[in-house]
Amino acid sequence: MLRVNENYLKLPGSYLFSKIGKKVSAYAQANPGKEIIRLGIGDVTQPLAGAIIEAMHRAVDEMGSPETFRGYAPDLGYEFLRNAIVKNDYEARGCQICADEIFVSDGAKSDSANIQELFAGDCKIAVCDPVYPVYVDSNVMAGRTGTYEEQTGMWSDVIYMPCVMENQFVPEFPKETPDVIYLCLPNNPTGTTITKSQLQEWVDYANKNGALIVYDGAYEAYISREEVAHSIYECEGARTCAIELKSFSKNAGFTGVRLGYTVVPKELKFGKASLHDMWARRHGTKYNGAPYIIQRAGEAVYSDAGKKQLKEQVAYYMNNASVIYDGLKKAGYTVFGGVDAPYIWLKTPEGMSSWDFFDYLLERANVVGTPGSGFGPSGEGYFRLTAFGSFENTRAALERIQGL
Ligand SMILES: Cc1ncc(COP(=O)(O)O)c(C=O)c1O
Repeated sequence: MLRVNENYLKLPGSYLFSKIGKKVSAYAQANPGKEIIRLGIGDVTQPLAGAIIEAMHRAVDEMGSPETFRGYAPDLGYEFLRNAIVKNDYEARGCQICADEIFVSDGAKSDSANIQELFAGDCKIAVCDPVYPVYVDSNVMAGRTGTYEEQTGMWSDVIYMPCVMENQFVPEFPKETPDVIYLCLPNNPTGTTITKSQLQEWVDYANKNGALIVYDGAYEAYISREEVAHSIYECEGARTCAIELKSFSKNAGFTGVRLGYTVVPKELKFGKASLHDMWARRHGTKYNGAPYIIQRAGEAVYSDAGKKQLKEQVAYYMNNASVIYDGLKKAGYTVFGGVDAPYIWLKTPEGMSSWDFFDYLLERANVVGTPGSGFGPSGEGYFRLTAFGSFENTRAALERIQGL
């Protein structure tokens, strides 16, 4: 008889956003007249930029003609896209990354979950707390995290690096040396980030300790401050210790289109093994590539028109971020993030728990956010609002919160 992967059975509760979804629909059913504003899940709302739509139309037409039809994509992704990525995301920032170190994929969620297949079963992972839940859960599924302790909400074999108000949400080097360090900067959920010189310290630490950094740069497009690095490869020595994950979801609105890429430098060697060769083998064996039409859409992100339109889109969301940030401050909240990221992280008032504040906001203002505790134990007492709504909804939500 089949025996299942029992690691899956260790995963506690339901996915955070399904719990939120259930609570919101129960409230909506019980209160049919109420207009609920959703600033919870980190999904974009603006339509795809014109340059992207045009590129997709052209690619669709190509697929309809025998001369230009395309079948399976090359293993690493089309060269036209990988070259555009190298030129715009790396060369332009003085980073040395070659096109054959870029692996095009269907997004950063799957890459961030799949990358752990390259690590030994007993590798120790370190994560920021709070954290994007995929890093931990994918390692749970692989049996790398030990046992779940209900009371603390922690896994026995995971190294947690608390990111809280007291340390300005900057992770500190853990007491126990990890093998793999997950860093998401700018950060989901706290909306905060670190400077390039702080990131350099992490690169030096990883190189010194033989650790790997998995660097998730999904929110890179939202960086506004000069002193923040757009890629970990801006730091010296990152080619020997870091993998970078990138997504087209938040910089270009591809959450429903699906495109991302992972950079695995050739210098990344542990013992005799090359992570680049291993990831190439995995990609070739388990993945048949992002669709041609979507890769052409990705190429358009780097066209002159695409860049201009997407700059405006990012500015639109960041304007929402300041509406939320300033509005909450005016209402007396302690607020973080929202400067280099589309997330605002607030301290819940009067010591309220994150879920109590969720209920309070839903019932009193009909606004949906995300309880900080859903991202890890150190998220308790915090709450996340996203800037990805429409301007009108964002403004209305803040008016309601201010009126409480
Ligand atoms: C930190 C982080 N990484 C990755 C993702 C997922 O990206 P994608 O849509 O490319 O799978 C998200 C989505 O919210 C995220 O917050």
